[in-house]
Amino acid sequence: MCGIVGYTGPREAGPVLLDGLRRLEYRGYDSAGIALVTQNGDLFVEKRAGKVAVLQDALGNRTPSAGIGLGHTRWATHGRPSDLNAHPHSDCTGRITVVHNGIVENFRELRSELLAGGHVLASETDTEVVAHLVEAAYEGDLADAVRSALRRLEGAYALVVMHRDEPDRLVGARLNAPLIVGLGDDESFLASDAAAIVAYTKRVIFLADGDVADLRPGTATITDRAGAPVDRPVDIIPWSAEAAEKGGYAHFMLKEIHEQPEALTAAMTGRLRHDKICLEELDPIRDRLAGIDRVEMIACGTAYYASLVGAALFQEWLGVPARSTVSSEFRYSPPPIDPHTLVVAVTQSGETADTIAAARLAGDRGALVVAVTNTVGSAITREAHASVFLQAGPEVAVAATKTFVTQVVTLVMLAADVAHQLGRLNAEAELGLVKALRRLPAQASRAIELAASTEEMAERYASANGFMYIGRAFGYPAALEGALKIKEISYLHAEGYAAGELKHGPISLLDADVPLVAVATRSAVYEKLISNLMEGRARDARVIAVATEGDTEIERLATDVCWVPDTLEPLSTILAVIPLQLFAYYVAVKRGRDVDQPRNLAKSVTVE
Ligand code: AGP
Repeated sequence: MCGIVGYTGPREAGPVLLDGLRRLEYRGYDSAGIALVTQNGDLFVEKRAGKVAVLQDALGNRTPSAGIGLGHTRWATHGRPSDLNAHPHSDCTGRITVVHNGIVENFRELRSELLAGGHVLASETDTEVVAHLVEAAYEGDLADAVRSALRRLEGAYALVVMHRDEPDRLVGARLNAPLIVGLGDDESFLASDAAAIVAYTKRVIFLADGDVADLRPGTATITDRAGAPVDRPVDIIPWSAEAAEKGGYAHFMLKEIHEQPEALTAAMTGRLRHDKICLEELDPIRDRLAGIDRVEMIACGTAYYASLVGAALFQEWLGVPARSTVSSEFRYSPPPIDPHTLVVAVTQSGETADTIAAARLAGDRGALVVAVTNTVGSAITREAHASVFLQAGPEVAVAATKTFVTQVVTLVMLAADVAHQLGRLNAEAELGLVKALRRLPAQASRAIELAASTEEMAERYASANGFMYIGRAFGYPAALEGALKIKEISYLHAEGYAAGELKHGPISLLDADVPLVAVATRSAVYEKLISNLMEGRARDARVIAVATEGDTEIERLATDVCWVPDTLEPLSTILAVIPLQLFAYYVAVKRGRDVDQPRNLAKSVTVE
């Protein structure tokens, strides 16, 4: 959602903030703004609808010299994207300025109260009330005033607040939205994501919900909202600034697709021990895992599609009921949950509000909650009894790629580990799985090489009216994910369907301008899938098949074939999705789309 960055220290704050905002732009890009307390003691604010580049153009070379400031990229929730609604927002005196990620749910009530009290509010946003609440509470100490204002807020927030009269001090606060502190030599940072500040410092503090951070250059004092000091450890960010850069690729998405072999290796690092799969993170909850009798998976979007693989394997290997539910629906019709229910929350960002809310509900009802996430220190890790990290490195493109394949592989390992613990996975099956997992990174490299043809194919398919993606069993999540990729980045309609359902309605969409994309890798359901593919052929649809190398039959049946290496069926989702990612990428490029930051989307959706 929104991206936040704050700085206090000896550097020129303007360039530090703009650099941070560019790196955070994937979180939201409806508008951008910065505020600085200048060397002359003035509060300077510039904010614009549009991307950071628009803000930068507006600033030109008139960014004033300043050692402190804050910045924001917005993904609109309350109030349309406009210069006026862009952050930062200020109080009546023009001394206090605020940036915010999240939603102040009681802002209408607070706004009425503030207006009745004589405050003048200019924007349509929920955020502006915060600046005025801080103004009302200010008695010479910004941190005290912020803590007082926070006590009035309901909803979610990551906030950074600055006062013109305290020109080296930033105050940050978080509740259900990410915010980290960065500590450098004589300088301090606040950011919604380490990507914004890792070029300057790797020493960070992950704030917890309810924390208030009071920053001066080089120091940070953390308290709760009542002002009582709290201790938070300083963590070291393990990745470099370069890791978050494009590394020579035209887009982050393309880079991240090519990083998948490495990301798969990283996801398995330390988890394959000879012929066994072992996730140490589960050790503290082994007692409870021993008693589980049902598995519920919760996730959104790409993570939901990955979770379908996990649910199928938990059910098959453990022999207990297992299913996956979209997080936003889980809360409204929760299944029976008790202490024997294992709930697995899958989320790349660890900050997706729907998934956090569903995990919290499950935890409140006594479930054992395990988070599968890419983000150390994220909100989901605080809802979970144990967290298993993807270890995939930062993913910048809004369209998830390497985190999908690492989610699938991590869920395969998770299900196998628990099945092993419960004595339900025999040694031979586990050994076969370990061997297949070890081959997977090299096979992913091969799949990327083989998918080079998707660039030329995209030329022929980029003007299609839409696409129908089908798959069965482990091919089904790959079809869903392939369709989502096309929708997200090329803005073409695509349906992802269980292949057997094609004939129950959506087949009417097929014609010469609506191609059928069939995940037809080697599997127990191959023959049935081929029948579905033929149904499409008979309706004049061009057919793109994702097939296993060595399949001699499929070339006669499909218009185009994307080859992938052979693997075990549960791992086939990982290899099958690779050509579909690249196909979506090249279709979007041919259509001139903004691949890394597609319209209307945000990398991390921290509103319900
Ligand atoms: C995928 O390309 C999207 N960015 C989106 O569907 C995403 O997977 C979803 O919003 C869930 O995000 P999370 O994994 O961070 O929870």
